[in-house]
Amino acid sequence: MDNNILKAAGIIKKSKNMIALTGAGISVESGIPDFRSAGGLWDRYDPAIYASIQSFIRMPEKVWDMIFEMIEVTEGAAPNSAHFALAKLENMNYLKAVITQNIDNLHQEAGSKNVIEYHGNAKQLVCMSCGAEYGASEFDISTKEIPRCKDCRKILKPSVVFFGENIPFNALSESQKFAEAADAVLVVGTSAVVYPAAAIPRTAKSRGAALIEFNLERTELSSYADILINGSAGKTLPELVKLLEN
Ligand code: APR
Repeated sequence: MDNNILKAAGIIKKSKNMIALTGAGISVESGIPDFRSAGGLWDRYDPAIYASIQSFIRMPEKVWDMIFEMIEVTEGAAPNSAHFALAKLENMNYLKAVITQNIDNLHQEAGSKNVIEYHGNAKQLVCMSCGAEYGASEFDISTKEIPRCKDCRKILKPSVVFFGENIPFNALSESQKFAEAADAVLVVGTSAVVYPAAAIPRTAKSRGAALIEFNLERTELSSYADILINGSAGKTLPELVKLLEN
């Protein structure tokens, strides 16, 4: 057993307000590639072209090429042991909220109740012209026919946050509240380079929270972390839960 996991368990046992921030890395073991690792999504799609709101407004058809691929991958995905471990920590009343940058719905499917979707969710579509909202399941995405608004026929956008868009207000204010009250923050599977999400663990740490990072490699956050747990989250998080169950 990694000594750092033992140390993390000791801190968590004493915590009263622990939160987690998760990124694409927690879903890699569910078969969803992350963005910035080798072979990640941004290796194949330039985010400046495919992930900015300006690009979506200018050439929605091109951006939908990437969205179709993302939906195909996430639709077939199931939560992995890391998602279940965080749901278990919430169940054990250790974890108060999961703030996720992911749009794959896997935390909810694993049983986590208090999930703050910082970058929205791909299960909803919105019309940028008339504001109409739809469930993605109302359209047969497998036909690769780009979904259009049933009222004004404009191309719909997934309710996810593109670069250049604001974080949904509720997600922003809820997360800030949790970050300011946290006495421990688990940071799982994120490169911590995209703001304002990356500010969440820093805010918690600046107010005295213990920062525990779970990643395969060092990140921009690692120098702030109290504990670095190196390895696949699908392995390290269940090990942590096992210690807390005893
Ligand atoms: N276990 C733990 N960590 C992992 C695993 C794993 N099995 N697999 C990958 N990782 C780590 C990588 O080492 C990397 O540090 O997860 C991190 C993934 O980083 P990114 O690909 O940058 O994903 P993320 O941090 O979620 O990106 C943030 O950027 O493009 C935007 O909106 C997008 O929400 C996304 C945001």
